[in-house]
Amino acid sequence: MTTAPTARQGAVGTAHTRVEGRDKVTGAARYAAEIPFPGLAHGWLVLSTVARGRIRALDTAPVLAMPGVRTVLHHGNAPRVATDYPGLMGGKPDPTAAVFQHDRVPHPGWPVALVVAETPEQAREAAEALVVHYEQEPHDVVFTADHPRARPTGGFGPAVTEKGDLEAELAASAAVVDAEYTTPEEYHNPMEPHGATARWEDGRLEVVDSNQGTMWVAGELANLFSLDPSAVRVRSEHVGGGFGSKGVRAHQVAAVMAATVLRRPVRVVMTRRQMFSLAGYRSPTAQRIRLGADADGRLRALEHRSLSLTSTVHEFNESASAPSRVMYDADAHHTVNSVVRLDVGTPTWMRAPGEAPGSFALESALDELAEKLGVDPIDLRLRNEPEQGPVSGLPFAGRNLSACFREGARRFGWADRDPRPGVRRDGRWLLGTGTAAASFPAGAGPSTAAVTAEADGSFTVRINAADIGTGARTALTLVAADALDVVPDRVRVRIGDSDFGPAMIAGGSTGTRSWSWAIRLAAAELRERLAPDVRVPPEGVTVRSDTTAALGALTQRERHSYGAQFAEVAVDPATGEVRVRRMLGVFAAGRIVNPLTARGQLTGGMVWGISMALHEEGVRDRATGGHYGADLASYHVAAHADVPAVEAHWVDDHDPDDPVGIKGIGEVGIVGAAAAVANAVWHATGVRHRHLPIRPDRVL
Ligand code: MOS
Repeated sequence: MTTAPTARQGAVGTAHTRVEGRDKVTGAARYAAEIPFPGLAHGWLVLSTVARGRIRALDTAPVLAMPGVRTVLHHGNAPRVATDYPGLMGGKPDPTAAVFQHDRVPHPGWPVALVVAETPEQAREAAEALVVHYEQEPHDVVFTADHPRARPTGGFGPAVTEKGDLEAELAASAAVVDAEYTTPEEYHNPMEPHGATARWEDGRLEVVDSNQGTMWVAGELANLFSLDPSAVRVRSEHVGGGFGSKGVRAHQVAAVMAATVLRRPVRVVMTRRQMFSLAGYRSPTAQRIRLGADADGRLRALEHRSLSLTSTVHEFNESASAPSRVMYDADAHHTVNSVVRLDVGTPTWMRAPGEAPGSFALESALDELAEKLGVDPIDLRLRNEPEQGPVSGLPFAGRNLSACFREGARRFGWADRDPRPGVRRDGRWLLGTGTAAASFPAGAGPSTAAVTAEADGSFTVRINAADIGTGARTALTLVAADALDVVPDRVRVRIGDSDFGPAMIAGGSTGTRSWSWAIRLAAAELRERLAPDVRVPPEGVTVRSDTTAALGALTQRERHSYGAQFAEVAVDPATGEVRVRRMLGVFAAGRIVNPLTARGQLTGGMVWGISMALHEEGVRDRATGGHYGADLASYHVAAHADVPAVEAHWVDDHDPDDPVGIKGIGEVGIVGAAAAVANAVWHATGVRHRHLPIRPDRVL
């Protein structure tokens, strides 16, 4: 048939249920560790029980004699891997997942062996029976604000930015805030645990996985095992949450090793408890903020110093001073990110890395300054809207923060707020409201896409995107439909396969924007090829795109999504319990592709903010270095009962350089949310909480 696409516009911006929603709720959608393979063997990771030292010996013989056990891999017999290749974004490679290569134990929970058996139960029983002898060394797992080994370190951005004379401006200020804030270790805890199956098929390595970017995992596996990139295929069709934790980890590498040794498919799945050691986490932070302002609230001085931790294996920097580099300017403006190396697991990206803990400190300090000056917290922020990037000096690609605050104040009912703390009651509860600003970088990464006009009049998009629960697959369907000028029902989007070619990962809130760009490019060219009388052959007509050149030509701008967060809390002064009664966020996050899933993404972020403010806290045992309660019974996350009413809205916003106008909504929803809650707790009680989470014992 001929393919003059039916004229249709406006899928982008219209609510659309998830295209794979029915498959997910009926169980037809299979997650990585549910997909059957003939001849599958099961690996179980054995983790170090000591915090630091060496492996002296492993008693493998008794374990090899146990039912169903096929092999025990460890540093003495596992295949060697390379670790001297260029790392992600040109940095040093991260050897965190290069398991079984040496006898050193750099932190508690380091993988020391993989037991492979016919069934998961046999593998688990044998793994738990494996006796490992260690030579223990003293360890240091205690994170303190004044740790002697802390040093300034760059991460996403420089270690230090410095402008003006801080002490002079503080001395000349009408009001000064000088406060220290801390946030604890936090763990991603996606619902679906990490799991991977590896097998060799016709000389190619195939890995079925749950990840945030199959190219990322395929590229790392090719590097580690010295394979040609074309010899590695990684698929990841459905992902039950990632939050930054689903990159290359011990389980994929161990599964590939075992599949290589045993010449059969091998699956390795992490337990919830193992995820606390193997899947990364958010570093704790210790932050000091100094603000100085004139009587009218104009900032003269802003200093934001942040310390986070990393492992001895790899350097990751939770750059918590990041929001201060874009949110507010001052005559003297200093920011520092420092890191201390401890004998702990390597932290990683988690839910707005840098911005989430950084905004807690910065936006709490702004609230403290507003209190000291007797200025409304929203007015204080509006009076400090910068003309250009405070550190970059670049023009903003739209900064609609003021519109977010105005719209948020209207919807929330801020105008009637009595600024005095501790004066509202509802029975035994003290009531308060708080606000905070949010920001998160809006970026894009190079991506390729292939769009095929099929002979039956439908279209197939192949792009190596990842839908980690965000609704990305559906958003891309809408973008493709508009770009092809057809209804969404005529478009099928296939994702999560490294054979589709390179594309940006689902990370840094850049996925949908990066992938949409590539789809638009390919779709535009395809439409040109499909003149009204062109016959589509049985194999279809395919156009491929690559956004590398287009992104290289992007205008240099300070590009961020923004938001205004509002919270109302009730505090029981007798028990110390804090209940969030309602939350409201208004965001300026570029063009919203699918209002239905966008609302879910933004309110989901806000709920994580409640979780961060009140519940989440990873606790280490100093003696063993290990975790207390590494499970969802002890590590509290917000549950339904903690979230009575949460609303997300947005204002018109449009990235001027993006073909669809997208900026990114992935992570901005959590930013500022914890500060809004903490500021509301102050308003309710008159007490500042500078240490998260705001547990009942801290309220009392
Ligand atoms: Mo996000 S923490 O970049 O997955």
